[in-house]
Amino acid sequence: MSHLIAPSILASDFANLQSESEMLDKSNADWFHIDVMDGVFVPNISFGVPVIRAIKKFSAKPFDVHLMIVDPDRYISDFKKAGADILTVHYEACPHLHRTIQAIKSEGMKAGVSLNPHTNINVLEDIINDLDLVLIMSVNPGFGGQSFIENTYNKVTALKEMIIQKKSDALIEIDGGVTSSNARKLIDCGADVLVAGSFVFKSDDPLTTINDLKSV
Ligand code: DX5
Ligand code: ZN
Repeated sequence: MSHLIAPSILASDFANLQSESEMLDKSNADWFHIDVMDGVFVPNISFGVPVIRAIKKFSAKPFDVHLMIVDPDRYISDFKKAGADILTVHYEACPHLHRTIQAIKSEGMKAGVSLNPHTNINVLEDIINDLDLVLIMSVNPGFGGQSFIENTYNKVTALKEMIIQKKSDALIEIDGGVTSSNARKLIDCGADVLVAGSFVFKSDDPLTTINDLKSV
């Protein structure tokens, strides 16, 4: 499978979400990456269910919703109703991760787990066969525009080995500080999906930047 690109609308112009969504929809991006932050799990508040519902009208592409919130179980069906196709929760926010993953799947969504930069991939050993996606944070979650953490390459390599060894179908997604400079190396280490916020939306020509990331 060739790699997928998921631009993060966190870096888009919130005053023009309709046109930003329409631009992404007609681009060569594969998914919309949508960052939900609660100001508790991470030190920032972004947006929630109503905003996702609003932009769903302007997109036919899968919505990849990344929940940076405590107690995500409370909102699983709300995110499904709003238009989420893939729902990712944080390992660090879920004391009963297996139950949470089953609840996401029972709503008909793909289920993902995200790991903060300090969390070792070994914690996923007993759940990797239940996952559709592992989202490796390559910055500390909470803000766009941060610098990529170099140890991510080691994590992706180790995670890819685990996935192959366990015969899991989980995709590896990388989130934070992704640019055309690190994209190739991430893919070579085993990444399947690259999230890019600032690199896409703060560029002069987001459509061309998405094409550049697709063709690295
Ligand atoms: C960070 C978010 C990311 C963010 C990435 O907490 O999960 O998805 O939008 O933004 P960039 O690509 O600017 O690092
Ligand atoms: Zn994200």
